[in-house]
Amino acid sequence: MRVGILGTGAMGRYYAKLFASLNPVMVGRQGGSYVLSQGQTRTIITPRFLPWEKAHPSMFDLVILVVKWPAMPIVQTFLQKADSHLLVISLMNGMGQEEALIPPLSPEQLMVGTTTDAISLFNDEETGLPQVRVMAVGRCVVPLIPHPLVPFWQQQLQELGLSDSWKFLSHAALHQERWVKLIQNSIINPLTALANVTNGELPQIPLWTLSQPLLQEARDVAQALGVALPSDLASRVLQLCQKTASNTSSMLQDTKRHRMTEIDAINGYIIHKAHTRGLQAPTHEALTYLIHAIESS
Ligand SMILES: NC(=O)c1ccc[n+]([C@@H]2O[C@H](COP(=O)([O-])OP(=O)(O)OC[C@H]3O[C@@H](n4cnc5c(N)ncnc54)[C@H](OP(=O)(O)O)[C@@H]3O)[C@@H](O)[C@H]2O)c1
Repeated sequence: MRVGILGTGAMGRYYAKLFASLNPVMVGRQGGSYVLSQGQTRTIITPRFLPWEKAHPSMFDLVILVVKWPAMPIVQTFLQKADSHLLVISLMNGMGQEEALIPPLSPEQLMVGTTTDAISLFNDEETGLPQVRVMAVGRCVVPLIPHPLVPFWQQQLQELGLSDSWKFLSHAALHQERWVKLIQNSIINPLTALANVTNGELPQIPLWTLSQPLLQEARDVAQALGVALPSDLASRVLQLCQKTASNTSSMLQDTKRHRMTEIDAINGYIIHKAHTRGLQAPTHEALTYLIHAIESS
């Protein structure tokens, strides 16, 4: 199976190592060597790489989409050249992948899933190379769709010993999981980015009181859309902060690096869906405004 990885950041580089036996090609703006650090193990790897303009979807059977949202226009242009053979698996955070990518793709070609893998990028002091650090190995959850390549991908996962860490769910079950992740991200990401704190520090600071209206507004939107959410969501968000206490959220990493964030696909998506149902999400709007202000400064 010819595998492409769209994105050369923390996730793209982690998956390039995880699927190294399939000899994947990373597609993005910059390739090169990096150090993959997992526990006590350090490996220097140099996966195959092509810049966007030299890659073509026909080179691949399956692509794993792991860019940040500001790269979506490049991805859309790239996938416009895809034929119906290609299978695309998105593991990006946020929502709106279907709206952004169907078309050019058909619904039968796009699997939008989530992952709880936690991967961060650092500079490797020993080598001067980028260091991709595996903070936690999680689980990928993707929808089971009727594309002919899905059984082959499941077989590849089995051969790689990854069957247990990839779960295939019905669209309905996955939709709920995606909303849970969206809401967790809509609370933890902007609040940690605004306060410049780790996930573990967040529940200790006054800004944490905003987690309650953020959760309630998002819950109202989900309910209006017919998405059933678990009743213990508030404690799940708190537990996630505690479980990932030493992690710096991806939005905080982006603001620290003066990069555009994924706020529009996270809180922005909740605001957009609220408006389509005649609802308001003022706390999400305020945070989105503040994060945009940081981005533009
Ligand atoms: N890291 C995690 O633990 C984790 C866990 C779950 C989900 N995710 C999700 O997975 C996705 C990728 O995350 P990541 O951690 O790999 O992010 P990352 O390390 O910041 O890498 C982002 C990738 O997107 C590209 N990109 C960003 N803005 C771009 C732009 N304007 N134009 C072109 N390319 C652009 C970057 O290219 P350059 O490097 O050239 O800038 C890089 O290839 C995100 O949706 C994230 O929320 C991440």
